[in-house]
Amino acid sequence: CIIPVVLSGGGGSRLWPVSTNEKPKQFLPLNGSHTLFRGTVERVSDRSRFAAPIIVGSALHEELLERDLAGIEAQLIFEPCAKNTAAAIAMAALMAREGHGEDALLLVMPSDHVIDDSKAFCDAVVKGEAAARAGRLVAFGVRPTAPETGYGYIRLGREIPGIQGVMDVANFVEKPSLEVAKAIVGDGEHLWNAGIFLFRVGTVLEELREFAPEIARAAEGAIASGARKGDHFWPDSAAMAGCPDKSFDYAVMEHSRRVAVVPMSPGWSDLGSWDSIADMADGQMDADFVTTVDCDDCYVRTDGLRISALGVRDLIIVASGQRLLIVPRGRSQEVKRLLSAMGAPA
Ligand code: GDD
Ligand code: MG
Repeated sequence: CIIPVVLSGGGGSRLWPVSTNEKPKQFLPLNGSHTLFRGTVERVSDRSRFAAPIIVGSALHEELLERDLAGIEAQLIFEPCAKNTAAAIAMAALMAREGHGEDALLLVMPSDHVIDDSKAFCDAVVKGEAAARAGRLVAFGVRPTAPETGYGYIRLGREIPGIQGVMDVANFVEKPSLEVAKAIVGDGEHLWNAGIFLFRVGTVLEELREFAPEIARAAEGAIASGARKGDHFWPDSAAMAGCPDKSFDYAVMEHSRRVAVVPMSPGWSDLGSWDSIADMADGQMDADFVTTVDCDDCYVRTDGLRISALGVRDLIIVASGQRLLIVPRGRSQEVKRLLSAMGAPA
């Protein structure tokens, strides 16, 4: 069986001021009426193909997670502190091993993406199964459309003999510099890493032990000494406090020689910045609170503050409660710089 693992512990800080630590991006209805987290869980809710998911999120968001899961059975791991995705995946793999053994497949997914075509996505997962069972770390790649520096890039190798639709990976570059991104984005050899992975429990634990032994050890301690109540699990906070903070991409994907990729095009977007949301929204505005005169290519979003603009172009303007963001289009990836300049985020 395939066990979905939903990673939900990130802060989504690039979407400030709408996304905050108390209520990050995945708990917002950024694409339609339900939250991105709920959309992720529903995408894998066909129980003939997927087991009940393992959710790894922050202990700060217990209530948000439970509310959003209404009616869906799941195992929840509440982290006492965020130690990035390598630790979260390690803990999920250890929990899955207890219940399902080393041969179970994990489908790791971020909780804060949009995928328009669930069927195309599930078909891509099916394509990746044989490679995952054969001991590969299967990533899912989408065709890049811009030299984004916030993504991982996968350089395609040859199709794996005997496994149709799955390619070897020549190398994996996480978050390249702008120069590198510009050089590789249009060369036809690279795909964006969608941040979704399929692998055997045993395989990922082996790779973590080899390339991130401290994280593997800390995760083992956190699970061995954690507290359990029904489907809810609280990893041991002392063990987690000592765990290195590293993403799975830097810790494992850049180093492993067992990476493979399934190219897919299911209408994926990671809504990672206001620019990507502005591109999707394509000029829609909240007419009740927004007036613009002689403005070109502006994205304006507000939850109540009245916004009026005249004679400006290429701006992103976002108001949430008492907070207002103004940034030129094309620079919203840098919102994190503002947060550090303000001292306390959100
Ligand atoms: N449980 C848990 N704990 N989840 C976490 C933590 C943590 O400490 N940190 C991040 N996450 C979750 C986020 O909520 C998100 O759903 C997912 O893990 C990915 O983390 P991000 O922080 O959003 O990663 P990224 O966007 O910078 O980069 C990743 O995604 C890109 C595609 O969107 C990488 O995999 C890139 O290679 C990839 O291109
Ligand atoms: Mg992300």
